[in-house]
Amino acid sequence: MIKFLNINSEKPYIHFQSLYQEALDKGQKGIEAISVSSYNQIKNEVEARYVNLKYISNNDWIFFSNYNSPKASQFESHSQVSILIFWASINTQIRMKAKIFKTSNEFSDEHFQGRTREKNALAISSNQSQIINSFDEVEKNFNETLQVMTSETPRPNFWGGYSFTPYYFEFWQGHENRLNKRHVYEQLGTEWAERFLQP
Ligand SMILES: Cc1cc2nc3c(=O)[nH]c(=O)nc-3n(C[C@H](O)[C@H](O)[C@H](O)COP(=O)(O)O)c2cc1C
Repeated sequence: MIKFLNINSEKPYIHFQSLYQEALDKGQKGIEAISVSSYNQIKNEVEARYVNLKYISNNDWIFFSNYNSPKASQFESHSQVSILIFWASINTQIRMKAKIFKTSNEFSDEHFQGRTREKNALAISSNQSQIINSFDEVEKNFNETLQVMTSETPRPNFWGGYSFTPYYFEFWQGHENRLNKRHVYEQLGTEWAERFLQP
């Protein structure tokens, strides 16, 4: 589930919320999963991965991750990202373009404090995406961290939130006869330009 903190009443947000509710009502699994693509400047490659979108607060779309991970260094060197969602229950794709930045320490602290000990032990004990010799190492690091953790254990500075603000949305809704509807909103200054694309 995505938490809507401060509802944005601009057109693409109203459209998003209405589709979100429809997908939720149809029992969409993994509704908070979004694909985030970023640019790896060193290898001249684009990489995508799913993350769980936790909050939409006004126009900030927020997820959490490891600040030492490959995605983190990609966001640091090139802040442009492409976001993709597919909700099979309503045959809908949502594409977004945005710039991405770290959330405030306060926001990350608050979210960290609301999570389970297990989730936080994993966040602390894992050097995300680093090579290991065996999965036993992961389990050992996790269990050792869990044992010494208390509810007072602070958020490590290498883990926290990312926030992006889309300036481009495309809502694609599929239909059996392939007369698929594509509805675009692009931010131009303070206005949202609306367009419809051919399927
Ligand atoms: C449905 C789903 C949700 C995920 N959510 C997160 C998440 O919220 N944060 C995260 O760091 N990784 C998440 N992952 C793992 C990432 O896809 C990825 O494997 C990991 O972040 C390492 O990515 P990187 O090497 O590009 O930095 C998720 C994976 C899946 C399949």
